[in-house]
Amino acid sequence: MSVGIDEISFYTSNYFLDLRTLAEVQQIESEKYYQGIGQEKMSMAAPDEDVVTMAANAARPLIERVGTDSISTLMFATETGVDQSKAAGVYVHRLLGLTSNCRVVELKQACYSATAAIQMACALVARQPEKKVLVVASDIARYDLDTSGEATQGCGAVAMLITANPRLVEIDAEVGNYTEDVMDFWRPNYRSTAIVDGKYSTKIYLKSLKKAWESFSEVSALAFDDFSHFCYHLPFSRMAEKAHKHLSKLNKAGLSLEQIENQVEDTLHYNRIIGNSYTASMYIGLVSLLENGKKDLAGNKVGFFSYGSGCVAEFFSGTVVPGYEKCLHTLSHRNMLEARQEVSYDEYLNLYRHPDPRDGEHHDMPTSTQGRYRLAAISGHKREYVIC
Ligand code: HMG
Repeated sequence: MSVGIDEISFYTSNYFLDLRTLAEVQQIESEKYYQGIGQEKMSMAAPDEDVVTMAANAARPLIERVGTDSISTLMFATETGVDQSKAAGVYVHRLLGLTSNCRVVELKQACYSATAAIQMACALVARQPEKKVLVVASDIARYDLDTSGEATQGCGAVAMLITANPRLVEIDAEVGNYTEDVMDFWRPNYRSTAIVDGKYSTKIYLKSLKKAWESFSEVSALAFDDFSHFCYHLPFSRMAEKAHKHLSKLNKAGLSLEQIENQVEDTLHYNRIIGNSYTASMYIGLVSLLENGKKDLAGNKVGFFSYGSGCVAEFFSGTVVPGYEKCLHTLSHRNMLEARQEVSYDEYLNLYRHPDPRDGEHHDMPTSTQGRYRLAAISGHKREYVIC
């Protein structure tokens, strides 16, 4: 019996800022963003959406197909939690109508935790193959204005059904991990934006890739040449390109620059126009590969490098299942991305600065999102979600 990803769907906000607009305001060349970091647009969350509504929007098509009875567990990966105690997934559980026998838990380790959720989900399914685990990863990436991180903001959520004999990607049991206590990126509880040592974070990312790959190589029979494609954590697209060059050099792979680029290029299409979605980003990269891959991927091995600042990293592998292309949500993803609305710089600032009320009074949120689920109000310190 194999275990892995049976279905995958993502959601992002209907608002985006073109990084050309940001570059114009900053009076720098837009090529720094379009070429230098490989990003074109960044999604901005509407005032009435958060990680809960984005996650429910991402998961809805999956639940519509399989129903709720077989879902034993909902795992919610995020670093944009809305409460220190209550798991954001409990709201999603109600919005999706999951059964009261379905357990819910929230996981955190920067951008890495969705991968921990998937590995735990695979273990649960191996014990109870008739059950399905819903893994959702949902985040809003926020940095201070006028910092080098600003252009790498974004938001998005991805939902994955982990099952026995999956229809998309079988996940191998062998993994390579690397953990080190470092301060490259963090967000203390009292801050809404992350603090980052940008250059250092890219160095630690590459070091973790080397270490996680070495750990993987000790337990897996797979070599670099066995993989047709690689999905990397995507803080910005150029990071994946740099990481992949680094890994191919470490493996002394005799590939041309074009061949190296081809192994990651199709994972980047969505990220370039969404931006960093932290926990969701590598898996939105997988959707991009499956939906935009230039060749049939059936039977191909894909390598995954998941990185969460702080830091925990993991390299693991999977095999694309024949017939995968019939189980995708390509059209609805493309339609969602095409229907997005571009915002001006002032509108971007309004979205960025929208206050999260803290006084315990009743605050209705302006109706803004095009999503099916919205945060309608915050009242008495309680978040009130509605299905539109
Ligand atoms: P910066 O320092 O402003 O950028 O921000 P730069 O000066 O290094 O320029 C970037 C690239 O653009 C360079 O290319 C320039 O040469 C090029 P490179 O040398 O790297 O090949 N460039 C141009 N190219 C074409 N035309 C031009 C032009 N001008 C410059 N005119 C930095 C870069 C990464 C520091 C910043 O974006 C940042 O702080 N980002 C946030 C941190 C981050 O994303 N780190 C990534 C690794 S950590 C991670 O992935 C975890 C994370 O997702 C969080 C989590 O785990 O929860 C962040």
